[in-house]
Parts: sequence; C-alpha cells; structure tokens
Amino acid sequence: MATELQFPPEGAADDWTIPQDWQRYTAAEHGMWDHLFARQAAMLPGRVVPEFMDGLDMLRMTKPGIPDFDELSERLMKATGWQVVAVPGLVPDRVFFEHLANRRFVAGRFIRTPEQIDYLQEPDIFHDVFGHVPLLAHPVFADYMQAYGEGGLRADGMGAIDRLARLYWYTVEFGLIRHEDGPKLYGAGIVSSYAESLFALDDASPNRIGFDLERLMRTKYRIDDYQQSYFVIDSFEDLLRQTVETDFAPLYAGLEGSEDIEVEAILPDDRVYHHGTQDYARAKKIAA
Ligand code: PHE
Ligand code: FE
Repeated sequence: MATELQFPPEGAADDWTIPQDWQRYTAAEHGMWDHLFARQAAMLPGRVVPEFMDGLDMLRMTKPGIPDFDELSERLMKATGWQVVAVPGLVPDRVFFEHLANRRFVAGRFIRTPEQIDYLQEPDIFHDVFGHVPLLAHPVFADYMQAYGEGGLRADGMGAIDRLARLYWYTVEFGLIRHEDGPKLYGAGIVSSYAESLFALDDASPNRIGFDLERLMRTKYRIDDYQQSYFVIDSFEDLLRQTVETDFAPLYAGLEGSEDIEVEAILPDDRVYHHGTQDYARAKKIAA
C-alpha cells in the first residue's frame, strides 16, 4: 500500500503540485502510453458513454504520446474551465478536495512499467489522465466533480469522508450509465483497465444495480479486485441533480450507526439490471 504523506515532499509546492516535466519522458514511456491507449481505443467505442470518446477527440488526446498537462489544461480550460496538475502521489483528502473544488484535477505523472501493465497499486498517469480527464470536458460531469470537491471539504468537517468516498468510488471510479442500448461505462477505474472494461459490462458475475444515493453510501467496496456490484446512473444530469440538490448533512447523520451493506448484496428495494452470479468472486475465494 502506498503510504500517505502529511506534508508536501521536497520539491512540491504548498498545494502539493509539482511540475510535470513533460520533456523528461523517455521514448519507452511514451510508447507505453501509446500501447495502453491503442488497446483501450480499440475496445471502448460502443462500451463507453459516447461523451467519453467526444472528450478524447475534443482534447486532442488521440495524438500519440503522453499528454502535456499544459496543452491539455489549455483545451480543458476552454471547454469547462478545468485544469490538470501533477502531484507526487496520493495527497491528503483535504488537498484533493480543495483542488477539485477549484476545478483542478490532480494527476500522477509517472507511467506504469511493462511488469505493471495490468495491475498497479497506485494510480499512474494512464489511469488519471486517460481515465478521468475526457469527461472533465463534459459540462455536467465537470460540475459534478467540482461539487464533489466542495462536498468533500464539508464532509471532512462532519467526519463523513468515508461515506462520501463511497459515492466517488461507485460513480467517478466504477460507475455505469444507462443508455438506449443497455448500460455503458464511464468510471475511470473501469475505462483505464482493459480487463475490467470487459468484466463490468459483459460478465455475468457482478450485480448491476440502479443508483441510489443512500444505499450506495452504505455499501462497502473492494480495492483488491473487480467490483462485485456496479451502480447504474440514469444520466449525468440526474447524478448532478440528485447530489447537488441534496443536503448531505442529514443523510450522514441518519446513516450513523446503520449497518454496512456487503459488496455482493442485493436488497429488496434495489432496481436490479442484472442479478450477478458472483461466480468470478466465488472462484477467486476458493483459489485463495
Ligand atoms: N450536496 C452535497 C452536500 O450537501 C455535496 C455534494 C455535491 C457531494 C455533489 C457530492 C457530489 O454535502
Ligand atoms: Fe482514479
């Protein structure tokens, strides 16, 4: 596990940002980006929400090589007023929320090595930038991310960060969205992973359940393997409306002492799109 630092490391600014040093990437590192990019770009159309592909195009992320954050920020700024800034690794919650609330997305600048191609403990630039940035060009999703940052600062004051983190996990990282021809992907943790992009949408194992804010804030999640449940939002507009128009303070208070919901559970009130077999998780457990 990555250890979280308390103070910005040597060379980082007070807000924890560091220069991307784009000119320092090697040909092999650019090549790794291109390899990962080509693999996802071939598989995602039709599976990912169309706005994601639009974002890649609009931000010119389709051009070869690791994106230069300054260039990316310039385009993003014109589209939705967001920027991408580099940080040395995981940053403290408040720092993260503060950046989001100011429409700055913090990204790692390192890229995985060939040994780490399918499994990484800490998010690298491919996850952070390929996974997260395209939807920041979408006005509604961009507003959601900023609101989330403000909500995070507020949650911190109420001791409710863990609850709010579940919302991030099941939307921003692992969310699915309804579409006329069945659910599509939008979560960055899914779309930056070849294997999970297939699993989340096509595999019979995981549950696919309609988004319900309170339910989701009670649901545990796993950080070591594919999710056992995915939550499907109706639209970005609906997600933004439901979260921004709800005062979370009474929600947090009401949930205090409530029991957590297990990752594989299906509840009587769930809107079930797919009742998972959980075969994958079961087989993994037996093997372990
Ligand atoms: N409305 C939430 C609150 O009252 C803040 C929030 C907005 C959280 C959007 C997440 C996403 O705290
Ligand atoms: Fe992420």
